[in-house]
Amino acid sequence: MTQWQKSDWRGKPRVQMPDYTDPAALAAVEQRLGRFPPLVFAGEARTLKKSLAAVSRGEAFLLQGGDCAESFSEFSADNVRDTFKVMLQMAMVLTFGAKVPTVKVGRMAGQFAKPRSTPTETVNGVELPSYRGDIINGFEFTPEARIPDPNRMLDGYTQAAATLNFLRALSKGGYADIHRVHSWTLGFTDSEEAEKYRDMANRIQDSLDFMTAAGLTSANNSDLSTVDFYTSHEALLLEYEEALARVDSTSGKVLAGSGHLIWIGDRTRQPDGAHVEFCKGVLNPIGMKCGPSITADELKRLMATLNPENEAGRLTLIARFGAGSVGDHLPKLIKAVQEEGANVVWSCDPMHGNTIKSDSGYKTRPFESVLREVQEFFAVHTAEGTVPGGVHFEMTGQDVTECTGGVRAVTDGDLSSRYHTACDPRLNASQALELAFLVAEQLGSRQAERQQAAS
Ligand code: PEP
Ligand code: CO
Repeated sequence: MTQWQKSDWRGKPRVQMPDYTDPAALAAVEQRLGRFPPLVFAGEARTLKKSLAAVSRGEAFLLQGGDCAESFSEFSADNVRDTFKVMLQMAMVLTFGAKVPTVKVGRMAGQFAKPRSTPTETVNGVELPSYRGDIINGFEFTPEARIPDPNRMLDGYTQAAATLNFLRALSKGGYADIHRVHSWTLGFTDSEEAEKYRDMANRIQDSLDFMTAAGLTSANNSDLSTVDFYTSHEALLLEYEEALARVDSTSGKVLAGSGHLIWIGDRTRQPDGAHVEFCKGVLNPIGMKCGPSITADELKRLMATLNPENEAGRLTLIARFGAGSVGDHLPKLIKAVQEEGANVVWSCDPMHGNTIKSDSGYKTRPFESVLREVQEFFAVHTAEGTVPGGVHFEMTGQDVTECTGGVRAVTDGDLSSRYHTACDPRLNASQALELAFLVAEQLGSRQAERQQAAS
């Protein structure tokens, strides 16, 4: 068998990728990107894989979240910090409530390319190519903006590098020190969630005071003063992914240098397609979205292709069926995994199966549906005796009004007030925190049962 090459995807059928019109400009960009440093190291991808292996065994929980699509125009230090901050808060709620470590993975520093349900969109009788994410074309509804421009890949790389640099500073430079647990509360703190969070932070503070008295401080324990925070995105734009792929000198294997974890979308997981071909050869942890159309046989084939050595932590299956449908799909996929004796992480994306058009015309997601899908996911895993390993949210630290519902109820009429997403509707900080408390409850009772069973 000939060895896998990072360019092999070029010989496979591709979907959801742009047709660049200027091959010379594309080649020039690919060459430049090929000389740039990778954004992540192989050692980091391996550490994440180890943590995900623990998730697959139920010894840790995966929290993955961030924008549906990162945008060039909305990029700012505040936006990055606020999403990071909400994720820290959510992780704290999960760790404290469920007594398991949380593996934190942002949909950040590279989440720029979007699959679309239709190749064109029509507004007031004008039909133009669909927006495919800032790394491909422009959001503006003009013929010029919608032409795919390879130079956008360079801007994407620059923004990803700046984002990751800032995330590294935030996670390792003192900001994420657990003694600052009170200061991560966001500005809009009038919600019930904020109150609950403050109560929890007080209890954590008490424990920390005790630990300090016992001699355990941030100065002598880096687990208290720093966090591990990883990046992820959908590996959709394969020219970008290939250009950032690098050989890892330790193992001789190829690393996708664009982010720690990359995933394959529900629309691009054809077993013989270009996206699976690229992802199968890189050493990173890989995610794969599983929507209602995936069959048990297809899943078995994909697991064999993407994780032939059955390495724990290599493959995360991200279920996204929609509230009310989890029971129709998840059990048979869990059975397929069990029949193969496959090691996987099961994560729940309660966003992408619950998108609706509101009466006011906005694309939205009712918070109740998001919550219900998470509950169904947990219920199925409890019934099957398998591990609900994590959650995957589209969320932001900003106080947006994109999903309806939640305790600070966003109504249909509110959607127009702060609807900022470049693609799908995100949970705002308060909704994200509310969900974290609910997940912690579910997870906490499971952990308690496990411990009881073990004793
Ligand atoms: C996404 O995660 O933004 C996305 C497009 O998801 P899916 O592939 O599950 O539709
Ligand atoms: Co989305």
